Amino acid sequence: MNDQKQKEVVLSGIRATGSIHLGNYSGAIQQFVKFQDDPDVDCFFFIANLHSITEKIEPDLVLKGTRDITRVFLAAGLDPEKSTIYAQSSIPELCELSWLFNCMVTVPTVANMPHFKEKKDLMQSRGTKETAGLLTYPILMAADILGVNGTIVPVGKDQEYHVELARDIARSFNSKFGDLFTLPAASIGDFIPSLQGSGKMGKSSGGQTIAINIAADELKKIVLTAMTDPARARRTDPGDPRNCNVASYHHIFSSTDEVTWAEAGCMNASIGCIDCKKVVLKNLEALIAPLRERYEEVARIPDKEIDEILHEGGIKARKIVMAVVGEAKERMGLPFF
Ligand code: TRP
Repeated sequence: MNDQKQKEVVLSGIRATGSIHLGNYSGAIQQFVKFQDDPDVDCFFFIANLHSITEKIEPDLVLKGTRDITRVFLAAGLDPEKSTIYAQSSIPELCELSWLFNCMVTVPTVANMPHFKEKKDLMQSRGTKETAGLLTYPILMAADILGVNGTIVPVGKDQEYHVELARDIARSFNSKFGDLFTLPAASIGDFIPSLQGSGKMGKSSGGQTIAINIAADELKKIVLTAMTDPARARRTDPGDPRNCNVASYHHIFSSTDEVTWAEAGCMNASIGCIDCKKVVLKNLEALIAPLRERYEEVARIPDKEIDEILHEGGIKARKIVMAVVGEAKERMGLPFF
């Protein structure tokens, strides 16, 4: 217990909906793999399948999604021997902890979270009403984090508020009921913009996404048709890299020399947008090729084996969460009689 306390505890989750694209990969999963190889950290990575049902409950999809994300974890290099990999649904105590936190957080606090407001508007525009689960989503997320006493939470920028909320809850619990939770901090991954317009890559932004196992010719099509600075209507028109998402891709995926080359060439119109995109394409293909190959391998792993990995990880993580939740309940005057 003691030497575990000194170690950093890295925890993160990915929802079991849709396919994993470059945004999720560079925003989160790539960081997971780095942390896993650090001997000074304990890693917990899970499939947030309970968070996948806040808008719509589709049993077959969520189950398939849970196994798919597990396969993506494996393809990206996560190793169940090194990291604890599990599904949220394997740990009922998370819902219990979430309830305790629900009673410590005010409605305005969650109702004002940007994520809630956005999703609520989206649901209403589709003629549906937001669920209570959507409202309290960040509270369950706090339970995920604090349930294993996570200290570092690798997530995309859009999840930063939620980690802040977990931090506030930990602080408030500690001051009311005595120190129990370590205060978690977010570790923010790269922001991957959409290649078609504004906003981040993802389903909600409407643009095309780059799946981590995307075929080479499809990748080529997406990159070469990406929107660039509208000022560059002709090859001879100079552009401004700040108005171009392809330039942002250079910053994330290209070498320093390539970034300098692309930015100078854009501003003095010595290169065309296609020349610039081709370099991004080369670098993306180099990143994706091994992922594509490993994804093909893991796709062949039978569901039974995937479930076994989740089962083992679930047992390990649940033990830790049970102890934390038991202690939290004791302190709140809610023993298991
Ligand atoms: N809300 C996160 C997302 O949509 C997923 C998530 C659930 C998570 N619980 C978490 C991430 C705990 C980090 C820590 O991406």
